[in-house]
Amino acid sequence: MQIIRSIAELRKARRGLAGTLSLVPTMGALHEGHLTLVREGRARADQVAATIFVNPLQFGAGEDLGRYPRQEEQDLALLEREGCDLVWLPTPEQLYPAGFATTVTVSGVSERWEGAARPGHFAGVATVVAKLLLAAAPDVALFGEKDFQQLAVIRRMATDLGLPVQIIGVPTVRDADGLALSSRNAYLSADERTRALALPRALGEAERRIAAGEPVDGVLAEAKAAVIASGFESVDYLALVDADRLEPLEQPGGAMRLIAAATIGSTRLIDNMAVSSM
Ligand code: PAJ
Repeated sequence: MQIIRSIAELRKARRGLAGTLSLVPTMGALHEGHLTLVREGRARADQVAATIFVNPLQFGAGEDLGRYPRQEEQDLALLEREGCDLVWLPTPEQLYPAGFATTVTVSGVSERWEGAARPGHFAGVATVVAKLLLAAAPDVALFGEKDFQQLAVIRRMATDLGLPVQIIGVPTVRDADGLALSSRNAYLSADERTRALALPRALGEAERRIAAGEPVDGVLAEAKAAVIASGFESVDYLALVDADRLEPLEQPGGAMRLIAAATIGSTRLIDNMAVSSM
């Protein structure tokens, strides 16, 4: 596995890679969710590369940039074991040169939900992903459905900018008990980890009831109440949306998604589930 730190080295290595390339962008602290993307990337191209970069541009003031888990050695060992061909670990100075003044903003799909709760977050994500894709020039790039709105924002950006890359969404990987894997789960105490299960449980129950034809408003209100009753401090949103533009739906129909964000202790968790059409 080639370990690359500069853009110049990356460009040289890219020219030396034979055949097609998959890219898996990450912020490190890798878990089975990330490794599933690498495996899927391997199946879709001749070579697979990953990036590890905790992107300062997508963290707001007062968010967890400083305490975001960093474990480079372990991450490199995991990628090596997964058969990753190349890993690029850029520095902030390389990606954001002095005087940096250009950002990519995606209107519409960026604005609600995570976009409303975290102003500037998706501009930070879209900008770094555009830069990673331009530098690595992959044929395929893989992103998790775990961050469902992020995936929709990246698809929109790739289409609008005409980026010559196929964006692939990969289903959420969960622990055996149902909690979606996330680097931020490391912040949870044992007790919070147990109580956090209320989120996927409430989404699963809401999915079943909406698919069975129960009125959406009542189902969503009860799901929120169940999450709070299980010990979450707050529910930012728990909504039924269309799966492309993430606009709220009052009536079920078409491709739908249940999306949620809720805070337990000092940790904000997000999750989502597909809803089958009736
Ligand atoms: P990060 O949170 O490290 O996630 C990297 C990729 O792994 C994302 O595409 C994310 O959706 C996916 N992922 C995380 N948990 C997953 C799970 N349980 N199942 C499946 N996929 C999962 O998302 C980011 O980094 C950043 O915003 C990034 C896109 C790298 C831009 O900085």
